[in-house]
Amino acid sequence: MSLQLRYLVLVLILNFWSSCISAETLPDEAVALQSLASKWQASPGNWAGSDPCGSNWVGINCSNSHIIYIVLSGLSISGSLSEEIQNLPELVHLDLSFNPGLGGPIPRTIGNLVKLRRLILVGCSFSGFIPPELGKLSRLAFLSLNSNKLRGSIPGELGNLSSLVWFDITDNEISGSIPVSNGSNLGLDMLKKCQHFHFGMNNLSGAIPPELFQSNTSLRHVLFDSNKLTGSIPETIGVVDTLEALRLDRNQLTGAVPSNLNNLSKLAELQLSNNQLSGPLPNLTGMDKLAYVDLSNNPFDLSDVPPWFSTLPSLTTLVLEFLKVSGQIPTSLFGFPLMQKARLRSNLINGTLDLGSQYSKQLTLVDVQDNRIQELYPGGYSNELLLEGNPYCDQQGSVSKHCNVEQQSNPATTYSTPVQNCGAKVCSSDQEMSPICICSYPYEGTIVFRFLTFSNTENYTYYQIIETALYKSFQDNQVPVSSLSLQNPKINVYNYFQVDMWIFPSSKVHFDEPEVVLLSNLFSNITFKSPDGFGPYYFIAKPYPRFAESGSKSKKTGLIAGVAVGVLLLASVLAGLIIFARRRRRRKVKKATEQSLPSGSWYPSQSGSGVPQLKGSRVFSFEELTKCTNNFSEENVLGTGSYGKVYRGALDDGQLIAVKRAQQGSLQGDHEFKTEIEMLSRVHHRNLVGLVGFCFDHNEQILVYEYIPNGSLRDSLSGKSGVHLDWKKRLRIALDAARGLTYLHELANPRIIHRDVKSNNILLDHHLNAKVSDFGLCKPLTDDLKGYITTQVKGTMGYLDPEYYMTQHLTEKSDVYSFGVLLLELVTARKPIERGRFIVREVRNAINKSPDLHDLRELLDPAVCMNSTLPGLDRFIELAMKCVEESSADRPWMSEVAKEIENIMVLAGMNPYVASESNSASFGGERRSHPYQNDVSFDYSGGPYSPKVEPK
Ligand SMILES: *[C@@H]1O[C@H](CO)[C@@H](O)[C@H](O)[C@H]1NC(C)=O
Ligand SMILES: *[C@@H]1O[C@H](CO)[C@@H](O)[C@H](O)[C@H]1NC(C)=O
Ligand SMILES: *[C@@H]1O[C@H](CO)[C@@H](O)[C@H](O)[C@H]1NC(C)=O
Ligand SMILES: *[C@@H]1O[C@H](CO)[C@@H](O)[C@H](O)[C@H]1NC(C)=O
Ligand SMILES: *[C@@H]1O[C@H](CO)[C@@H](O)[C@H](O)[C@H]1NC(C)=O
Repeated sequence: MSLQLRYLVLVLILNFWSSCISAETLPDEAVALQSLASKWQASPGNWAGSDPCGSNWVGINCSNSHIIYIVLSGLSISGSLSEEIQNLPELVHLDLSFNPGLGGPIPRTIGNLVKLRRLILVGCSFSGFIPPELGKLSRLAFLSLNSNKLRGSIPGELGNLSSLVWFDITDNEISGSIPVSNGSNLGLDMLKKCQHFHFGMNNLSGAIPPELFQSNTSLRHVLFDSNKLTGSIPETIGVVDTLEALRLDRNQLTGAVPSNLNNLSKLAELQLSNNQLSGPLPNLTGMDKLAYVDLSNNPFDLSDVPPWFSTLPSLTTLVLEFLKVSGQIPTSLFGFPLMQKARLRSNLINGTLDLGSQYSKQLTLVDVQDNRIQELYPGGYSNELLLEGNPYCDQQGSVSKHCNVEQQSNPATTYSTPVQNCGAKVCSSDQEMSPICICSYPYEGTIVFRFLTFSNTENYTYYQIIETALYKSFQDNQVPVSSLSLQNPKINVYNYFQVDMWIFPSSKVHFDEPEVVLLSNLFSNITFKSPDGFGPYYFIAKPYPRFAESGSKSKKTGLIAGVAVGVLLLASVLAGLIIFARRRRRRKVKKATEQSLPSGSWYPSQSGSGVPQLKGSRVFSFEELTKCTNNFSEENVLGTGSYGKVYRGALDDGQLIAVKRAQQGSLQGDHEFKTEIEMLSRVHHRNLVGLVGFCFDHNEQILVYEYIPNGSLRDSLSGKSGVHLDWKKRLRIALDAARGLTYLHELANPRIIHRDVKSNNILLDHHLNAKVSDFGLCKPLTDDLKGYITTQVKGTMGYLDPEYYMTQHLTEKSDVYSFGVLLLELVTARKPIERGRFIVREVRNAINKSPDLHDLRELLDPAVCMNSTLPGLDRFIELAMKCVEESSADRPWMSEVAKEIENIMVLAGMNPYVASESNSASFGGERRSHPYQNDVSFDYSGGPYSPKVEPK
C-alpha cells in the first residue's frame, strides 16, 4: 500500500473516531504522530489508539490538547523522521537522541515548528545537510546535532537563532567555512546569546572569522578542535572576556597567536596544539584562571622559558611538547598549588631541573625527555620524572631511574567502580551483576568530556566526584537507579576524556520505556551537569538490550502484509542473537575483572592507575606526509606488504621517518585504528621501533615510525645490506631483540604478543642496535585472559609455533618459538625454510648425531665462524632449542631468554649492560650506551633460567 494511501486511510479512520468519541488530542496532531510512527520499524510499546495525550503515550506530553514534548531518546527507534513533524505547531521540545537506526535527512519542514526551544538529535544517523529552515526557529535555545553523519556547511540562516545558547554539531562531517553576516547574508556572529560553539571533530575549513568574536557576545566555550581550519587566530578573540575554554587544536592554523590573548581573564582551558602556529610563544601572563595549557607541536619561534611559567596560579597542566623552548625551568612552576603534570619533552631546556621543596602535592608527572638538562635536584619528589634524552643521563644514566624509558609503563590498572563481594553469585543469561550484587539489564553508554581542567585522571577521587554527581541527578529527577558502575576511562585521540557507564535499575530487572526515556534525556538535554573541573560533555547511549532485542510493539499489525512482518521478526531475532552473543562474550571478560577487584572499598587514589594517553605521538596532516615523502613517490618505498607500502620521508627538522600507509582495502575501522595508535603510542622501549605519530584524515590510515637506517637483520645475514655481523654483534642483536620482546610480553600494559617475530622484522640502527618492528599483527593481552583463541592463525611460515598452529591458542610462548628460530638463523644465516629444509629439524638432527656439536659446524654461517671460535655457542644453541620445544610449557619466558643471552655474552667476554660495545670506540660518549637498568633489576618470578641438557 502506498504511503499516501495509508495516510489517507488513517485520516479517514481518525476523523471518524474523533467525530464519535471525545479525545484529548487534536486530530491533526494525532495524525502527525501516527505518520511519524509510520516511518519507523517499530514504535514505542503503548502507542496505540488515536489519542496520544489521553492515553499517555510514552515520550509524549501535552498541554491544552497540543503535543508539546516529544522525548523518545534511547528507544532503539529506526527509520527516518517524517516531514509531517511540521503538523505539531506547539512543539517545544524534540529529543530523538541515541537511536542509531534513525537516519535520513533532517526534514526541512522542521523549520515550521516555530515554538521549538530544544532540538536534540544526538547519536543518531542523520545524514545530508543541516536544513537552513532551522533558522526560522527564533525561540530555539538548545540545538544539539552531535554524533550524526551530517554533511555540507553550516547554513548562515542559523544566524537568525537569536535565542540560541547551546550550539553543538560535534562529530559530524560538516565542511565549508564558518558563516558570518555581511549585509545580505546571515551568520553565526549574530548569535549574541550563544555561550557554546561545540564544532569539534568535523571538516570545517577556511579561516576563523574575526566577526565571530565581539565584546557583546556571551561565548564561554569555543571548541573548534579537530577540523581543517586555516589562517590565523583572529585578534578579536581577545575581547571576548566571557571565554572559559578555547580549543583550536588539531587544525591547520598558521601565523602568530594574537598578543591580546592574555586579556581572557576567565579562560581556564587553552589548547592550541597540533597546528602550524608560528611567531613568538603566546604571552599568557596574567591569565589567573588558566588551568590547562597545551601548545605542543607548533613551529613557534625559538623562545626563552617565558615569564608566565612562574605566574599562573591556577595551573594544573602544562603541555609544551615538540617546541623550541630554551633555558632553565623556574622552580616556581612546580610550586603552583594545583600543579599536576608538566609535559615538556623535546625542547631546548637546559641547566638544572630543580623541583625545590615546595612542589605541589598533586604533582605526578614531570616529563622533560629529549632536552638539554645537565643537573637534577629532585627535592623529595618521587613520582614520575622522565629525563631520558638529556645530557644528565649521559653522566648519571647508570644510576638514575629517571633515565629509563621503561618507567613510563607503570603497571596501570584502569578505574572501575568497586564492587561488593558477591560470593559465588552468578547472573543468568545476558544480565549483568551490579556493584551491589544484583543481576539486571543495565543501561549503558559512554560519557565524553570535551576537556578537563586537570590531568591526574589516575586520581580516583575524580571518579567518585562523577559518581556522586550522577546519583544526585538520578535522585533529583526520580530515575529509579540502584547503582552505577564507571569503567574504561581514557583520553581518546581527540584529547577528550571518556568513561563508560553502566546504570542499574532499582528493585527490578530492567528499566521500562518511560524510564529509559527519562534516563536518556538526562544526558541528551544536559540536565545532568558536569561537575567542577569537567568540561561540557556529550553522551552516547548503547541500545538498551530489551528494546533492541525484542523491538517495541509493532504498530503496523494489520497494515503490513505478513511477509513483511516475517522479515521484521527475522531481523529482530537476528539482531537479538548478535547482541546476545556480543554481550555474552563481553560478560566473560567482565566477570573475570570483577573477581579480581577487592571487595567493597575504594582503591587508594595514588595506586598508580593510568589512563591510556598518546604519549608523545604527533598528529600529522595528510598534506604534511605527502610533502615529506615526495608525494609518496615509488623511489621512497622501503617495503611493501599486504597492508600497503612503507615510504621513507624526512620531516622539516631533518628527522628521517618511515611512513606506513594502509592501502584502500586494508583500512581498519576507525575504532580499531585508534585502538592501535593508542597501543603503539604507549609502547616505548629502546629495542622497539618507536612510533613518531600518525595521520588519519582524507580517509587515510598512516603510521609514522622512526626511520632505522641499517635495514633488517635478514638483509645483513643475507649479505644484501653489506653490514658484516661478527659473533659479538650477533649476540648483541639477540639480546636487543630479546629485551624488546620481554618488554612487550612482561612490562607493557596491556601485555602484547608480537605474533610475527622474524629476521625481517628486526631492524638495525646506526650502531647496529636491534629494534623489533612491525606490530601489525600484535595482540594486546588483558590480565584476566591467559591466552587467546584466535580464529585465524597468523604469522610467517617457518617461524610459526606448531602448537599455536594446531590449537589456535596464542600465548607469549608462540613468540618465544619464533625467537628460537631467529636464534638459529643468527648462527646459520639460513632462512628458516630453505630448499625445503627446515632449520629446526636440521639443527636437531645434527645435535642428535653428535652431541659435541661437531656436525653442527657444517650448518654454521661461514661468515661468522671463519677464523674464530665462538665462545658460548653451545649454550646459545641449547637456548635456541629450548625455545623451539614442541610444547609451549617447556619453553622459557622471554625474560629468561634475555637473561641467558646476557650470561652467554659474559662467556664471550662482553659486558651485556653496555650497548654496542663493538662501536664503543666511535660512539663511546653517546647517550645510548648507558646500562639498561630496568632489565637488570627486573624480578624474574621463576629465578634465573639455566637450560638443562637432556641426556641423549
Ligand atoms: C510528561 O508526562 C509524563 C506522564 O505522562 C509525566 O510523568 C512527566 O513528568 C511529563 N514530563 C514533563 C517534562 O512534563
Ligand atoms: C606579556 O603580557 C604582560 C601583561 O600584559 C606584559 O606586561 C608583558 O610585557 C608581556 N610580555 C611580553 C614579552 O610581551
Ligand atoms: C641555556 O640556554 C640559554 C639560551 O639558550 C643560554 O643562554 C644559557 O647559557 C644556557 N645555560 C646553560 C647552563 O647552558
Ligand atoms: C586527588 O584529587 C583530589 C581532588 O582534587 C585532591 O584533593 C587529592 O589531593 C588528590 N590526591 C592525590 C593523591 O593527588
Ligand atoms: C531540558 O532542560 C531544560 C533546561 O534545563 C529544562 O527546562 C527542561 O525542562 C528539560 N526538558 C526536559 C524534557 O527534561
